[in-house]
Amino acid sequence: MTTITLQENEFQVFQKIIFREAGIDLNDKKKLLVQTRLLKRLMHYKLKSYTDYIRLVQIDKLELNEMVNLLTTNETYFFREIEHFEFLQKELIPNHPYKTKFRVWSAAASVGAEAYSTAMLLDSTMAKQDWEILGTDINSDVIKKARVGLYPESWIDKIPQALRSVYCLKGKGQHAGKFLIDRGIISNMRFQVGNLLEQNIDFGKFNLIFLRNVLIYFDNDTKQKVVDNVVDRLLVGGFFIISHTENLNMIKIPKLKQVKTSIYQRVI
Ligand SMILES: C[S@@+](CC[C@H](N)C(=O)[O-])C[C@H]1O[C@@H](n2cnc3c(N)ncnc32)[C@H](O)[C@@H]1O
Repeated sequence: MTTITLQENEFQVFQKIIFREAGIDLNDKKKLLVQTRLLKRLMHYKLKSYTDYIRLVQIDKLELNEMVNLLTTNETYFFREIEHFEFLQKELIPNHPYKTKFRVWSAAASVGAEAYSTAMLLDSTMAKQDWEILGTDINSDVIKKARVGLYPESWIDKIPQALRSVYCLKGKGQHAGKFLIDRGIISNMRFQVGNLLEQNIDFGKFNLIFLRNVLIYFDNDTKQKVVDNVVDRLLVGGFFIISHTENLNMIKIPKLKQVKTSIYQRVI
């Protein structure tokens, strides 16, 4: 495989672009990662240097989007950090007044595993008209995958057995080795491209917002901006969940009260 070395000054330009577009703070150790992930685009266009590719992304919005897609990290799995789903099942769902719809936002949804894990729990205890889920991510490729809801069979292991048999359909023919999320729950869900740096007033307000495993990519100023934007979409009394590996120590959260490790409630 051909290798083209990413020069230090070129890497700095990519650092600036991804920070401007997504708020992602790529540290200096990520140079090889950037080189490897973008090499396929250089090959695709038969470019001789990363400088040529920089010129391209500066004039071509679609390629800029492709670059952002390639430089985001989308690792996810079903029922990741199970304590959060236990909290949802044991404390949030039973205490939700049935007068209003239970609305959940999986912000930074990646390919949808977080949103579908939530959907399985909501659907197994609530009527279809009583809940809905929005999943958003800056990466347009993962959003396309989330809409389809087709996953490698190995991912099914993390889904509790009782939910698996109801919501996962074994793929056949061209989908052998994969499983498909039941179409019945997909109708209560919407996935769309969305940037956490922007205010999303058209989303409405939510009872529960997941913002997990994305704050780690941001510096404190960006974290503050993103958390402010997201908390703005939370109903007073609603819950906000980050990952156990993240914290809000360096930012101001006057509207939130911590109720458990990594779980917050909007109080004003
Ligand atoms: C590691 S995944 C986390 C997925 C899921 N929340 C979980 O915990 O399993 C992080 C996701 O954040 C998305 N992301 C990064 N920057 C973003 C931004 N500025 N706006 C929206 N999504 C962003 C990435 O595209 C990626 O899919």
